[in-house]
Amino acid sequence: MDNQQLTALLQQMTLEEKTAQLLQLTAHLHEGAGSEGQVTGPMEEMGITEQMVAASGSVLGLSGAKDIIQVQKSYMEHSRLGIPLMFMADVVHGFKTIFPIPLAMGCSWDLQLAEKSAAIAAKESAVSGIHVTFAPMVDLVRDPRWGRVMETTGEDPYLNSMFARAFVRGYQGKDELKENTDRMAACVKHFAAYGAPEGGREYNTVDMSERQLREYYLPAYKAALDEGCEMVMSSFNTVDGIPATGNEQLMRGILRGEWGFDGVLISDWASIREMIAHGAAADDREAAYRAMRAGVDIEMMTPCYVRHLPELVQSGQLAETLIDEAVLRILQLKEKLGLFDNPLRGADPEREGEVLFCAEHRQASYDLAAKSCVLLKNEGVLPLKPHHKVALIGPFADSDDILGWWSCVGVKEDATKLSTALAERMQEGALLVAAGCSPHQMSAEQLSSALEAAQSADVIVLALGEDSAMSGEGASRTDIRLPEAQLALIKQLKTFGKPIATVLFNGRPLDLHGVLDEVDAVLEAWYPGSEGGAAVADILLGHVNPSGKLTMSFPQSVGQVPVYYNHFNTGRPLDPLKLEERYVSKYIDSANEPLLPFGFGLSYTTFAYSELALSSKEMSAAQPLFIRVNVTNTGLTAGVETVQLYVRDVTGEVVRPLRELKGFEQLELAPGESRVVTFQLTEEQLRYHHSDLRFTSDPGTFHLYVGGNSRDTLMSSFTLM
Ligand code: BGC
Repeated sequence: MDNQQLTALLQQMTLEEKTAQLLQLTAHLHEGAGSEGQVTGPMEEMGITEQMVAASGSVLGLSGAKDIIQVQKSYMEHSRLGIPLMFMADVVHGFKTIFPIPLAMGCSWDLQLAEKSAAIAAKESAVSGIHVTFAPMVDLVRDPRWGRVMETTGEDPYLNSMFARAFVRGYQGKDELKENTDRMAACVKHFAAYGAPEGGREYNTVDMSERQLREYYLPAYKAALDEGCEMVMSSFNTVDGIPATGNEQLMRGILRGEWGFDGVLISDWASIREMIAHGAAADDREAAYRAMRAGVDIEMMTPCYVRHLPELVQSGQLAETLIDEAVLRILQLKEKLGLFDNPLRGADPEREGEVLFCAEHRQASYDLAAKSCVLLKNEGVLPLKPHHKVALIGPFADSDDILGWWSCVGVKEDATKLSTALAERMQEGALLVAAGCSPHQMSAEQLSSALEAAQSADVIVLALGEDSAMSGEGASRTDIRLPEAQLALIKQLKTFGKPIATVLFNGRPLDLHGVLDEVDAVLEAWYPGSEGGAAVADILLGHVNPSGKLTMSFPQSVGQVPVYYNHFNTGRPLDPLKLEERYVSKYIDSANEPLLPFGFGLSYTTFAYSELALSSKEMSAAQPLFIRVNVTNTGLTAGVETVQLYVRDVTGEVVRPLRELKGFEQLELAPGESRVVTFQLTEEQLRYHHSDLRFTSDPGTFHLYVGGNSRDTLMSSFTLM
């Protein structure tokens, strides 16, 4: 259908039918979704009627080709105008084949693999009947207390933008979604700045200057839209005192006005009604009014629109054209997905069996897991030596809780556990696996099993972490250390005087006191997904050389949070040679620097940087700068290095960060091999929002840094003319 036909269809719709298109509910109310749909309990209390369900425009959270086909068919039978349902779900890091959590994927710095993971997730979802994923989540984060840091790629606006684009490319593909039924539409979230809740407390207030918002928080959403992302989800939080979902300045002003976004904007779960709790709407009616005025098209899981929009229009308070625009956008998306011609789209119960969790997808998950792990410390213990007897101890030694939050229809039982993978790869008798235990406590028996294994081994591999419910939505923590029982276990195992290599399974940067300082090696595995155990085992045994680099700083302690690499210098920076000085910006009980900086990650080999050279000492808008650096693998093992380029605008009209990532390149080097990496830097990359919010650059001196992380770098300078 072309736009004219869609408009003609819209004209045939009653006001009630139109507002029902704007309602999204979970699937269980629909006929065919497992059990017969029935409006009972909370739904009835919310004022949701069977008629509303029968006419609602989209469904959340249902998957499985058989069920979706059934629901769609029965819906179409009752649909007066033949408008199909749209099925949406949270496919965040895989559908059935689960990839490492997004924070881990970020640490791979591998955009191609990230794109591939999204393409695979799309293929598995599409064949299971899903049309839209609520991903990518691209919220910039600086506070590891917030449980949802696991869902994003980290603290840097440039890197997050690159990943946002890669994920959108993967989900949606290059071709028309109508033709390419192996892909699905993407919905970037959570617009805007959901990743900056005060105190890291879930759903808490977000408040920041407009410049901060534009410089750091908005770029990744914009990047997703520049890549063609079809949908946007509003966030739960306030932005400048107004809940995002009812924020006209944000939605109509920036998103639709400035950026020209004309796709579908959906609320987050109940976030329209939550405007009442925020104190920004007196009742459902006002909440509906504000959200519609702000430009939110679909209301997820509350009935403010469906119950109040008709009357708001009839009373003349809202123009019906606003509703028409919203409905048209939804119809357009349905058309783009090809649903009018083929309401079942890719849903195919027979293909599901071939596609879901197939060997090829598991291999891709393995590849990403192997690249996502970050080696944080290694004092000679890793890789494990073939002749060593290894004791595998700790709550994650034999655990399948390695998929992480938001693992869609992935099941833990399908995950390759570390114990299984190590046993497959080691000689019989070389691996002793202690009895499993919970991350929170160890029984006397479990402890004695651990101590016994440690006693008879040469090396201890200690698999520690947070259980997966300790991160994700609704899992903010004020104490980001490992649970006490695990710290106590480290102490006890230390008494054997044997080398300890720790593997961490967790969803946020942790306070690693009592871990990093106590053990000989630490490998951050995050939640590595379906093939996580295999990837970690191969790294431990040296079959794979770790190459991940952190994309979120690890703080010294929670008291230092937020701590991030691209901060300002302040007017009284601490001189590292005068640590005792009082009236400078510092703590009296902690270093200023994070424990582990952005970009950091070790390898089994070492890399040396030399001969940093610039094409000129001056650059201009017409003449970009070329930056060359020589990188050498100075160790005995082949390895992958992520070469990072940072810039500092020394004097700006507005203060600029000490370092900002401007580019990176990954290279694989054989032992002894050297390669020259060349970056191009343009004037455009030096622009920022000035006091009047103009996006321009400042002439003057810039510092430039190149290295393997944001701290240890070579430096040079140039002048922007
Ligand atoms: C989350 C969203 C998610 C939605 C639907 C909300 O609670 O904030 O990220 O897409 O639920 O499941």
